[in-house]
Amino acid sequence: MKLGLNTAVIPAAGAADTAARCLEGGGLVAFPTETVYGLGADATNARAVARLYEAKGRPSFNPLIAHVGDLQAAKRIARFDDKSLRLAEAFWPGPLTLVLPKASGCPVSDLATAGLETIAVRVPAHPVAHNILRAFGKPIVAPSANISGHVSPTTAEHVFGDLSGRIDLIVDGGPVSVGVESTIVGCFEPPLLLRPGGLPREDIERVLGEKLARMPEDTGSAEALPLAPGMLASHYAPRTPVRLNAHRLEAGEALLAFGSRMIPGSEQASVMNLSEAGDLVEAAANLFGYLRELDARGSRAIAVMAVPNEGLGEAINDRLQRAAVPRS
Ligand code: TXA
Ligand code: MG
Repeated sequence: MKLGLNTAVIPAAGAADTAARCLEGGGLVAFPTETVYGLGADATNARAVARLYEAKGRPSFNPLIAHVGDLQAAKRIARFDDKSLRLAEAFWPGPLTLVLPKASGCPVSDLATAGLETIAVRVPAHPVAHNILRAFGKPIVAPSANISGHVSPTTAEHVFGDLSGRIDLIVDGGPVSVGVESTIVGCFEPPLLLRPGGLPREDIERVLGEKLARMPEDTGSAEALPLAPGMLASHYAPRTPVRLNAHRLEAGEALLAFGSRMIPGSEQASVMNLSEAGDLVEAAANLFGYLRELDARGSRAIAVMAVPNEGLGEAINDRLQRAAVPRS
């Protein structure tokens, strides 16, 4: 890894042209989307995509999401059928990624799609992302802007902490609003929920008029390569061990709380509350930032209170379960 790049941080206002020029030159640009900060590269430039994998330290079998400005641009890289079109029209721009067959003549580099016949496509809703996509005029691949295996960044500071010296530019648009990654739907027959995320499953099922099948549980090994390899079991990983479903706090543990109820043992402890009001949207927005903060406090473990598994709770629990997978 070549370190020592001079990573510039610029405010979002008026940044679109600078970002587009940087991408055009094969540069790596982190920018806010409504879900998490993305690390963008020119999707059609294999060298830029390779730099991106390198900067993230991401295993190269892990394909990337191509971000485009609107449905019309999405149709140039992917083939839509009746159902996928309905989803796109209902939820774009927004926190939904569709995995679709690649369109013939799709200009996105094979490296970005890890050689698959399918491509993950998303139209983000964040105005800064939208302006950059418009100024650039081509698809931008953008994984979350963190070192592979770390928690996803929800502020420009998180991005800087992970990637400074490894990327060219960070566009600072302040904290993001959703706080967990996009929901990924594989537009197969039947449609599959590949990753729960910022758009609740129930909303998608309502538009489809059918249930989404859940991907079979992965084992965390690359051999069992699932359809969404980013679902590898230890993908979301603080360094501190994470203990789920805590009803009481053990000595030396920090607490990630949810709701107004407090648990025994938490009086003297380091506590962060995802949402005192028990609001799952607020909790999702706080999740990664709070995990990072508790991780930095050097506790023996992070104990996490139960979060209801409905709406955005499904994505929150998915990320928490991954964070809790033991690591060697
Ligand atoms: O909210 C988000 O989706 C953020 C922002 C930046 O847009 N991006 C993001 O990207 O989370 P990333 O790279 O961290 O996660 C992309 C996921 C991975 O799990 C990857 O395996 C899956 O999408 N994926 C990409 N292409 C795929 C494909 N053709 N088939 C199945 N899964 C795919
Ligand atoms: Mg990621």
